[in-house]
Amino acid sequence: MKIISAVGARPNFIKIAPLCAALKRYPEVEHLLVHTGQHYDVRMSDSFFADLGIPEPDVHLNIGSGSHAEQVGRTMIAFEQVVRAEKPDWVVVVGDINATCACSIVAKKEHVKLAHIEAGLRSGDADMPEEINRLVTDRLADLLLTPDRISGENLRREGVPEEKIVFVGNIMIDTLDAQCARARKLDVTEIVKRELLIPQELPPLPQDGFAVITMHRPSNVDRPETLRSLVELLTGEIANDLPLLWPIHPRTRRQLELDGLWEQVSRTIILLNPLGYHEMLRLNMNAKLMLTDSGGLQEECCVLGTPCLTMRGNTERPVTLKENGGTSRLVGNDPDRIRAVYREERNSPRRPFRPELWDGHTAERIVQALLR
Ligand code: UD1
Repeated sequence: MKIISAVGARPNFIKIAPLCAALKRYPEVEHLLVHTGQHYDVRMSDSFFADLGIPEPDVHLNIGSGSHAEQVGRTMIAFEQVVRAEKPDWVVVVGDINATCACSIVAKKEHVKLAHIEAGLRSGDADMPEEINRLVTDRLADLLLTPDRISGENLRREGVPEEKIVFVGNIMIDTLDAQCARARKLDVTEIVKRELLIPQELPPLPQDGFAVITMHRPSNVDRPETLRSLVELLTGEIANDLPLLWPIHPRTRRQLELDGLWEQVSRTIILLNPLGYHEMLRLNMNAKLMLTDSGGLQEECCVLGTPCLTMRGNTERPVTLKENGGTSRLVGNDPDRIRAVYREERNSPRRPFRPELWDGHTAERIVQALLR
């Protein structure tokens, strides 16, 4: 059996690592890894391959940045050639990025079976580019590998036949379980010193007396008024209360600079480079609180028990919400709501929670489903 898996951006790399390792145990499977190149910086891409032991991609499409149509279009043109040359039995895509959607369309048009890891997640918000990618990919997929029971229900409601849906659990947690011990050996202060974006003398950082921010969604960073009001709150009341560590995404950095907010942010918040997997995991293990608009971090916080203020109006990962046993609270991007929930969660204890089948063995169940 020949399988091509296609990945393009940081969260994809984290999810493909355990699958690559699991497939290596099956000599009857020929596995090719394609990197579309949507993320290309060393810190957004190469470091994840090296740190997570992901093999060198067999093919690199070097798509790079661009508008959505440019990224999807360029990926489709380049990936079509790969599929035509390699004639795989399966194309496996992960997550919800532009590469996921682009490679799915190509696979189906080339009459190749398509498997989607992380199928069935729905935010219900078609303003999110990721939601469009999820809808298109799941509509086309032959094998829909779901991370939780809610996702399976979403697919059934959309009319997906039962035999296409396989509940396998969350593959991100395979990576987390495999990498926790290595992350735990890192020292928080050392990480911060090494990754500081702006060289400065820092007072000693309390090991668990800090919060971590990550933010890159268009809904939070692309509109100057929204970004400005978030920055006001973060650099004001919150930064005065707790040291804030912010590993900054390239898209966010550019917007802060364009909107004239860079100076204000860099004076009050400890800005860091985009972090490696283990460094981020280490900070998450010790953080008092996470403020994020990332999908993956909601899940990691849930398993680690870190109180998580999810700066979005909705989530495709409701299984991580506090009302469902997790640690995440939706706070959107309204400063008053964020402030209120921040105060409530500021001293919340860690409450680790593992949804069903988030047990570190998802990759193996995926391989079994593909072989079946
Ligand atoms: C993408 C995914 C999102 C995921 C996120 C993780 C889509 C629609 N979105 O968003 O689901 O949560 O990745 O990071 O696919 N850039 C660099 N270096 C890089 C990559 C990007 O500088 O290595 C800059 C580029 O200028 C680019 C911008 O960041 O224009 C945004 O990158 P892009 O790939 O368009 O989407 P993300 O916002 O990263």
